[in-house]
Amino acid sequence: MTERTAGDDSPLSPTKDWGRDLDILDPRYVDDPFSVWHELRDACPVAFSERRGRAWMPVNYDDISAIAHDTEHFSSRRIGVVDLPEDAREGRPLLTAPPITSDPPEHTWARRILLPAFAPGRIETMTPITQDLARELLDSIAAGRRADAARDYAQHIPVRVIAHMLGVPAADEEMFTNWAVRILQEGFNDLQKSLDAIIETLEYFGARVDERAALPADQRPDDLITLLVETEIDGEPLDRRHLLGTCFLLLLAGIDTTWSAIGSSLWHLATHPEDQARLRAEPGLIDSAVEELLRVYSPVTMAREVIADVEVAGCPMRSGDKVLMSFPAGNRDPAQFENPDEFIIDRERNRHVAFGSGIHRCLGSNLARMELKVAIQEWLDRIPTFELADPDAVTWTGGQVRGPRTIPVRW
Ligand code: HEM
Repeated sequence: MTERTAGDDSPLSPTKDWGRDLDILDPRYVDDPFSVWHELRDACPVAFSERRGRAWMPVNYDDISAIAHDTEHFSSRRIGVVDLPEDAREGRPLLTAPPITSDPPEHTWARRILLPAFAPGRIETMTPITQDLARELLDSIAAGRRADAARDYAQHIPVRVIAHMLGVPAADEEMFTNWAVRILQEGFNDLQKSLDAIIETLEYFGARVDERAALPADQRPDDLITLLVETEIDGEPLDRRHLLGTCFLLLLAGIDTTWSAIGSSLWHLATHPEDQARLRAEPGLIDSAVEELLRVYSPVTMAREVIADVEVAGCPMRSGDKVLMSFPAGNRDPAQFENPDEFIIDRERNRHVAFGSGIHRCLGSNLARMELKVAIQEWLDRIPTFELADPDAVTWTGGQVRGPRTIPVRW
């Protein structure tokens, strides 16, 4: 790797100073963000960077929570850790994805439309479907003695579940995963790739929405696309940009987030035999285990745009700056969690922010928790004690969403 020199603002050059020149896409950060947070906490709890425009990143739980609740100074109109290019023709972002990119008052009604579909009762009806999906995957995995827990298993569950809820064919799974990878993984270093995938996604949902709209109301399937097609606000249907943006969000918000969480969980169990043995022996620990796995391996970092000058922990944030919301760092804050770097399967007090905090708190949290629980339970039911087959072959992706993408295991 080349060393970063003065005047060199290439995002690919490695950072030498995490406090003043943070790069969350630096492979060393992707590999081990934990030691960077330690370093930052000792030196300065808010990192700064000018690599992709001015950006700050607090690592303390209280600062992160305060920002997440402060919609007066912090907007969600730029939530990507890397900005997408504008739509050249329209002079506005190519994509709006309400409610995640909305601020109040739009956010309030954009979120309200979706809340019932993600309420605990509705998600419970998805449990048997998720179990069937997991069992189907395990039928072929369990026939062997080795598998890739990420590629053969974790990757497939969330995409198939959300496809079912949206009402799009499971047969399109590979295409959906490909969009998620291009937009949320590869796209940060190749914006054109991301842009093309966004356009493909929007066109795909445009066609599905038109199909629903063309059907008589009583023949439309009961799914999320129909819900959005039939929603009216003040007597008017949702405008198309809003509608397609929400479809986009619902597909993508749940894919690599939950895939990462399931993958990290299986990686943890493979590398911590004592925790694997305890969970097998005491299956009643599954709920607290899931919360602790979410805390310790929180996958999602979001962003905010500063919309009014403000000081946080002594740092002068200017209008137009970005703030990287490292919920994962907040979840390892020793001021909030005792022994934060330790995985404690029955941790009692665990108010983690893996799902964010404030008005944008994850709408899919019930779904994600259910998927995570089912995925782990079904795996443990079918696969005997397992371990990493080749620790060096494990790969992690990072940036907006951190999680393992290859986890070779054997049993
Ligand atoms: C373990 C898996 C998941 C994690 C860690 C996660 C994390 C998050 C986080 C941190 C936020 C807050 C964003 C912000 O503050 O800007 C969020 C929002 C959101 N998530 Fe999730 N998520 C997960 C799974 C899902 C699933 C399965 C769905 C289903 C579609 C989903 C849908 C959403 C939506 C729609 C929002 C926006 C809510 C709003 O703006 O009001 N998420 N998620």
